[in-house]
Amino acid sequence: MQKCRWHVFPDTKALKKQAVKEIVKAADEAIAQRGVFNLVLAGGTTPRAVYEKLRDIKTDWSAWYIYFGDERCLPANHPDRNSVMALTAWLNYATVPHCQIFIIPAEQGSTMGAEAYSKLLNDVTFDLVLLGLGEDGHTASLFPGHDPGLAPDAPVAQAVHDAPKPPSERISLSARCLSDAKKVIYLVTGESKRLAVSDWRSGKPIPASLIAPKKGVDILLEEACLAP
Ligand code: 6PG
Repeated sequence: MQKCRWHVFPDTKALKKQAVKEIVKAADEAIAQRGVFNLVLAGGTTPRAVYEKLRDIKTDWSAWYIYFGDERCLPANHPDRNSVMALTAWLNYATVPHCQIFIIPAEQGSTMGAEAYSKLLNDVTFDLVLLGLGEDGHTASLFPGHDPGLAPDAPVAQAVHDAPKPPSERISLSARCLSDAKKVIYLVTGESKRLAVSDWRSGKPIPASLIAPKKGVDILLEEACLAP
């Protein structure tokens, strides 16, 4: 059962400022405890402004290890790739060692790419996972009506076919893998998410409600996402 902590913000500026604070706090704690910070990035458009703000933070970048929650099966440098969004918004400007940025090899196709990423991430524990919310309640590339990968033996990463949000071929970390993270934060903005948020808050099972880490999830929500 997913434990939710809802944090409502009057606008996206306040939400993104808090998101940066949460990321820095998680990084400081992980680096102090274990000397590394394993962070999973969300795709889509919402996180871009958060990633841009991360360029200027003061941290030990050599301790950061970057992963992706999902990727679209497009050519490696395609502008619609989630990795390209993160690189152009932040990682090309930060000094995270490039050997510590683990891009999903989605250009290999969903099946081969998912297998390769699962092998690469097999024993990684994520300190923080950032996720978005789609209008239909999807998160990462886990869509309604598709297998969310909740089984205990679900792979780390799974191939996604026939995704309703183009491109249809994707790779996503499984709900089981995402739920094993120490901390999960959702970044949700825009009136278009109102129905998905209303379903979520009323307990209707949407893919986003299946990610259930032990300590619950924090949902940073723009007020405009709440039904009037
Ligand atoms: C993707 C994303 C997806 C995204 C949501 C929200 O590849 O599309 O991973 O899960 O986070 O669809 O997208 P926006 O932030 O653009 O609203």
